[in-house]
Amino acid sequence: MTWMQAVIICAAVCVAAAERRFPEGFKFGAATASYQVEGAWNVSDKGENIWDRFVHSRPEAISDRSTGDVACDSYHRWQEDIQLLVDMNVDFYRFSISWSRLLPTGFSQRVSADGARYYGDLIDGLLAKGIEPIVTLYHWDLPQPLQDLGGWANPMISDWFADYARVAYNLYGDRVKTWVTINEPTVICDIGYNNLIAPGLESEGRGSYLCTKHVLLAHAKAYRLYERDFKPKYQGQVSLTNHMMWFEPATEQDVELTELVKTLSIQRYCHPIFSSEGGWPPALERYIAEKSREEGEPRSRLPPFTQEEKEMLRGSYDYLGLNHYTTRTVRPAAPGEHIGTHLFDGFKELGVVLGAKPEWPTTMSHWFMVHPEGLRALLVSMKQQYGDVPIFIMENGLSDTGADLDDQPRVDYYRSYLEQVLLAIEDGVRVVGYTAWSLLDNFEWMDGYQSRYGLHHVDFSSELRTRTARRSARYYAAVARTKDIHAQYQFNKTNTVKGV
Ligand SMILES: *[C@@H]1O[C@H](CO)[C@@H](O)[C@H](O)[C@H]1NC(C)=O
Repeated sequence: MTWMQAVIICAAVCVAAAERRFPEGFKFGAATASYQVEGAWNVSDKGENIWDRFVHSRPEAISDRSTGDVACDSYHRWQEDIQLLVDMNVDFYRFSISWSRLLPTGFSQRVSADGARYYGDLIDGLLAKGIEPIVTLYHWDLPQPLQDLGGWANPMISDWFADYARVAYNLYGDRVKTWVTINEPTVICDIGYNNLIAPGLESEGRGSYLCTKHVLLAHAKAYRLYERDFKPKYQGQVSLTNHMMWFEPATEQDVELTELVKTLSIQRYCHPIFSSEGGWPPALERYIAEKSREEGEPRSRLPPFTQEEKEMLRGSYDYLGLNHYTTRTVRPAAPGEHIGTHLFDGFKELGVVLGAKPEWPTTMSHWFMVHPEGLRALLVSMKQQYGDVPIFIMENGLSDTGADLDDQPRVDYYRSYLEQVLLAIEDGVRVVGYTAWSLLDNFEWMDGYQSRYGLHHVDFSSELRTRTARRSARYYAAVARTKDIHAQYQFNKTNTVKGV
């Protein structure tokens, strides 16, 4: 090109880059989950759930042997949480309902008055401040009585979940317009059945696939129920949110294997719902059927859908929800090489080991590398596969040790990932909202309180569970207000906190 053309192109692109902003109507919010923040595990008539059982019976499974018994005490301090959200100028708060707080037995014949009041107050409190509630029905805390009947491996659970969803829609559907049925099926099924988190069962490649099927059907039943009985009067939207890493081949030889990894890790949970043909991703279905045959199994370990189930699932969404944290590389395991059991170590089913490019910065979590470009690639691939669906980023954020209120690396993480979201929007992907994980430090599952994702620091040594804004909270507040990732903000680390 001539220098003149170069100048013209640069003028266009450079101006766009400088003025790049999120469109009007784009929503910013922050998220938490019931077990991670509420505490009050045994107040009133709340029933026991699988996380209560797991942390109490297997303390060694949590790195610091902590529990969510008190956590951030948001059951009592939800008004403080709302104030933090107000100070951050966010459009919405994504939180989850604890199934066993609302339905102490797990079944819908008895609704807890206390549980119903708690979530009603929270919803009303948010709306009074102009903050939209986005409600997740299931963020991993299954009522223990349902686990005792087989939990997600029992086909009946899709009906029990729909019964629970009906109670929640009846109670809050007039005020809640965005519902997330299920958070991260892959973590529920692949980590939960790999003995790492509750319910702590060991049934990889069998129990995990039963769980996958029934989690998807539970979602679809809850979706269809809303569509039929509630959407006509409330006009809300319902979907689920999937955990999606992005994957890159380690070498040019690994391109095909990387595609297979995506069918297992991403499309297993998306294809039945978002593809036009429905059902399991064909390449994955073939792969597991063949492997099962070689292993002498009488049938595929991946249970089939009936035609009716396929139809119920296909199109059961109003938006595509995704949670994204990191990108990993894919290579085949060497003969005899041990593949770690963590979801982020590899996939035994495929004989795959996950790695990272040396130039990707590492974080305090061994599975978590910073590679913002992966988010743009993921968003573009969603549009390529599933068409022009509205995409809602339901989680994104960075963990650290929580030692410093001046969390510049988290600010950098948010700015760089948000920039990739902007680029994806310029690519034509319809991204409609973004959720920071998390509003505040909380009980981070098997990492206990050692891994912190909060925009706000929480002092877990104080009975008050004092919340203090980090630098990242100030930055995010400015972004939410201006829709500009380079917005100016003030951060004064004057109010230093005990334990920081
Ligand atoms: C609730 O659990 C706590 C431990 O987290 C315990 O000290 C307390 O006695 C329990 N309360 C009830 C009512 O069982």
